[in-house]
Amino acid sequence: MNLILLGPPGCGKGTQAKILIDTYHIPQISTGDILREAIKKESPLGIEAKTHMDQGSLVPDHLVIKIIEERLKQTDCNRGFILDGFPRTVAQAEALDTTLSEMGSKLEYVFSIEVDDEELIRRLTGRRVCRKCGESYHIEFNPPRQDGLCDSCQGELYQRDDDKEETIRNRLKVYQDQTSPLISFYQRKDVLHSIDGIGSIEEIKKRLLNIINT
Ligand code: AP5
Ligand code: MG
Repeated sequence: MNLILLGPPGCGKGTQAKILIDTYHIPQISTGDILREAIKKESPLGIEAKTHMDQGSLVPDHLVIKIIEERLKQTDCNRGFILDGFPRTVAQAEALDTTLSEMGSKLEYVFSIEVDDEELIRRLTGRRVCRKCGESYHIEFNPPRQDGLCDSCQGELYQRDDDKEETIRNRLKVYQDQTSPLISFYQRKDVLHSIDGIGSIEEIKKRLLNIINT
């Protein structure tokens, strides 16, 4: 099963991707996570990406397209994949179409998770992420059992550099300007499903699974 989780920063793409991995045993491919890993290693990709990510702007298309082309060829994607945070521009979506058709594969579901800006800002300013396994928590909506520590691996929880209110506002604008046109792009291809992203994590999960199971 090949699917895309589309939606603004903080809508719950990463949270729902982790649930879908456990249900369908297919990998989550998050360009944001791959880029943050590159920044940690201080690789040339990471050094270039950091200048864009710190401002909440998009990393240039050619860099992320190359990441995805290489990642989709790995054998763990043979049974399917969950794209989280890619594509983010029409150019990226067109490149994905080309790569998938070269692989003899195609998209089955694009879920657009819809959440209003006020709620997105609340979710992002309160988010804490595990340094070790990447699991996302929220200080109020999804707190860890032990303050500052990951439930799954006991790793240290930290706040992402781009989760400051000023950067969040730019990320929301970038989403509106550059990524939201993908909603009609995928509507035209008849694979788009809009999901109300307001509700508990469990409720959103049920909305996604209901569509997949019918
Ligand atoms: P990326 O890492 O993809 O960030 P994003 O799209 O801004 O999305 P987030 O990861 O912030 O949010 P999410 O939707 O995953 O929400 P989460 O589940 O964590 O990208 C970062 C940067 O990398 C970009 O700005 C760009 O610079 C670059 N980049 C990445 N991909 C790129 C691409 N393709 N092209 C160019 N540049 C690219 O949830 C958020 C919080 O809410 C958590 O605290 C969670 O616990 C909580 N929460 C989740 N669900 C609920 C719920 N139902 N109710 C209450 N709280 C909830
Ligand atoms: Mg995420």
